Amino acid sequence: MNVVDIITKKRNGLTMTRSEIDYMVKGISEGTIPDYQIAAWAMAVYFQGMDIEETRDLTLAMAYSGEVMDLAPIQGFKVDKHSTGGVGDKTTLIAIALAAAAGIPVAKMSGRGLGHTGGTVDKFESIPGFRVELSRREFIEQVNTIKAALISQSGNLVPADKRLYAIRDVTATVESIPLIASSIISKKIAAGAQGIVLDVKVGRGAFMKDLDTATQLARTMVEIGKGAGREVVAVLTDMNQPLGYNVGNALEVAEALDLLRGQGAEDLKEVSLILTAHMLVLAGKHTDFQAAREELQQLLATGQAFQKFTEIVAAQGGRLDFSLPFYDLPQASHKEELIAREEGYVVDLDALKVGHAAMLLGAGREQLDDHIDPSVGVQLVKKYGDFVKKGDVLAVMHVNDINRLALARQQLQEAFTVGPAQPVTIPLVYKTVL
Ligand code: URA
Repeated sequence: MNVVDIITKKRNGLTMTRSEIDYMVKGISEGTIPDYQIAAWAMAVYFQGMDIEETRDLTLAMAYSGEVMDLAPIQGFKVDKHSTGGVGDKTTLIAIALAAAAGIPVAKMSGRGLGHTGGTVDKFESIPGFRVELSRREFIEQVNTIKAALISQSGNLVPADKRLYAIRDVTATVESIPLIASSIISKKIAAGAQGIVLDVKVGRGAFMKDLDTATQLARTMVEIGKGAGREVVAVLTDMNQPLGYNVGNALEVAEALDLLRGQGAEDLKEVSLILTAHMLVLAGKHTDFQAAREELQQLLATGQAFQKFTEIVAAQGGRLDFSLPFYDLPQASHKEELIAREEGYVVDLDALKVGHAAMLLGAGREQLDDHIDPSVGVQLVKKYGDFVKKGDVLAVMHVNDINRLALARQQLQEAFTVGPAQPVTIPLVYKTVL
């Protein structure tokens, strides 16, 4: 087989056979195909697309390109939850505690990832002492004992995706539905999930800017996941404004904890309940979605989900003090307010700009080896639709490096638009793809 022939075939819009896909993926993971040919092939896929069989073959070839977790020693049906990524999205932290409190085993492997704030692993690592590197034995034992554990994704998991994603990132080929779908689902399969709940974010702060493309991505992921024998459901949720109020790693942990204690933002609570209720249904705990949701509401109200979170933190060496403000999480040295310059309604709150402001403060990384500052970020005080008076605080920036402040402030200022008329309500959940 010849790589140039494969690139030519895809460039001309033809369908790749399974053995051609296997050959490409093997060459990507083993390093026998050079970056420039992989880049050319990715660009051909970007323009010509892939049909569902090609996408499924690519997903499976990638999933088995490295180590595949065997979660058989964990009792029960293993459900994973994945978000395509958004600003202020701390639902995974909440869903882990809620699902585990409901008795569903959550063996969670997450990445650090690029982005405006860190990935789930970075958020947990903002808890002093929290260990994200557990041995396989510790990981499995912990899930069997307290129903949940969270570790950093092993370096040997889906090596083909690791290399391909890095090349896509610098060749403008990330925004391709077959490439995104295969990248996400291959990692879930390799991580041992039997059921997968996908939160496909839609809007300015997401990969998918509009509902049509997000729906297409959701349908593709559900179909290839099911084709690979997994139970999958995708929920399309809004990412035009940040989810909840806090954006930044320790800030997001604190907000997740507040919510588990019954004090959180309504949008965050709603999305967390919906996603976790789907996890319970996939796991067979309930056949009725509403009954699953009611159980979760009870687990929140009785403090059992909060208790579960504290168990996970303690089991992994994390130190929090629930009697202290901010749970004794790391805090930035300065707080800077953004003040409303006029009276009116918040008619726009751009998630992307808020995310960018948080990244400028040091909450996220542009390159994989960038250092993250766990204590910095943005705390929104007002959100879309809120009424503000001139002089009201719109948001608070948590800052350590004052030199970063000016640019962050400018981004945050631009994120808010205040106008005279109350804006229409934006849906929080657009649709569910089963
Ligand atoms: N997230 C992934 O894991 N892969 C993609 O290609 C895009 C988002």
